[in-house]
Amino acid sequence: MANVVVVGAQWGDEGKGKIVDWLSERADVIARFQGGHNAGHTLVVDGEVYKLHALPSGVVRGGKLSVIGNGVVLDPWHLIKEIETIRAQGVSITPETLMIAENTPLILPFHGELDRARENQNSVAKIGTTGRGIGPCYEDKVGRRVIRVADLADAATLELRLDRALVHHDALRRGLGLEPIKRDEVLAQLREISAEILQYAAPVWKVLNEKRKAGKRILFEGAQGALLDIDFGTYPFVTSSNVIAGQAATGVGVGPGAIDFVLGIVKAYTTRVGEGPFPTELDDADGQRLGERGHEFGTTTGRKRRCGWFDACLVRQTCATSGVSGISLTKLDVLDGFETLKICVGYELDGKSLDYLPTAADEQARCTPVYEEIEGWSESTEGARSWADLPAQAIKYVRRIEELIECPVALVSTSPEREDTILVTDPFSD
Ligand code: IMP
Repeated sequence: MANVVVVGAQWGDEGKGKIVDWLSERADVIARFQGGHNAGHTLVVDGEVYKLHALPSGVVRGGKLSVIGNGVVLDPWHLIKEIETIRAQGVSITPETLMIAENTPLILPFHGELDRARENQNSVAKIGTTGRGIGPCYEDKVGRRVIRVADLADAATLELRLDRALVHHDALRRGLGLEPIKRDEVLAQLREISAEILQYAAPVWKVLNEKRKAGKRILFEGAQGALLDIDFGTYPFVTSSNVIAGQAATGVGVGPGAIDFVLGIVKAYTTRVGEGPFPTELDDADGQRLGERGHEFGTTTGRKRRCGWFDACLVRQTCATSGVSGISLTKLDVLDGFETLKICVGYELDGKSLDYLPTAADEQARCTPVYEEIEGWSESTEGARSWADLPAQAIKYVRRIEELIECPVALVSTSPEREDTILVTDPFSD
């Protein structure tokens, strides 16, 4: 028995959906522990395409318990719509298969408005967020003025909580030139969805601790990527949650000892959406080609993703901060046909070599990547299911990445199809 955490080891969009789906088949419980509907996971199961944002990937597999943990921020209206969409695709979602932690913060309409107002205000404040209210909701959580799922159960508490939030938000909105919040309208909207949401509410920490004792396998499903982590990412161009693997424990309420294997999802090149530093970004034909071959458009916002060479230095860093046990390398086939590939092995800063990305923004901006060149391959790697199916140069590329990031490859994914995977180490094995 083992519990596995899946985290993105770059800037998100590493292809976690497929791997999580593949692992969820063998898990008993699938739990989301951070982020919200800023995430977008695409699953292809028996030819049917499911697009999930807030729901854990386990919902599309029968007989599993899916959990939304307290580390998540939840837009209840969005969740209800997402449940409807997934149900319309023939999936059954009931309080037996979906649980939401009672202490999960709720994203309210004014969080999204604030997020978008800030993004539109001026270029200095711009982060390039998804505009879904994620940041403002997390701010309210630590500011001790957020409404949580359990608050929906009592009318008096709900009003009190909302008034607490409004003291802060109305002052803020005045400064931004926004209308005051229509208190009664928000209350009415909340009352309308309360019963629907509360049917899934549960003391998730208790349920998961009992599941652990009963020997059940838990899959912790991360969203975004470790370089978007609020502490260890490229601040301030990050999301507002801890994304790294340690968050899996606090984001649902189990101890750190509950984590047996951390699987880092790593794309064979690098992409990023939104603003912020990206040392290996390519503005040339190679970058264009990566974007086209890799279909690099956001699942949530449809934005074009920025593309660049693989940055082994950054991935070594995220493997360290998340304690990654093994990586799953995805989208190797996008590199098919490149004559030469480049891997960033470190940076040069003011004439000195660095083996990590420094924290200070001005230093990050002055860092130039140091590249190692490696011969590409002309054959197709798409659909490979064993090392024998891969060209020798592709194997060399994978092995070099392993060396540079100081972490072994557990899986190689060679197409969106779940069977097109080379399995080296099973994260769930004892
Ligand atoms: P927020 O999470 O909407 O506040 O956005 C903050 C930053 O994280 C922006 O650069 C977003 O593009 C990025 N981001 C948020 N969620 C995802 C994701 O699921 N994949 C990739 N980038 C994301």
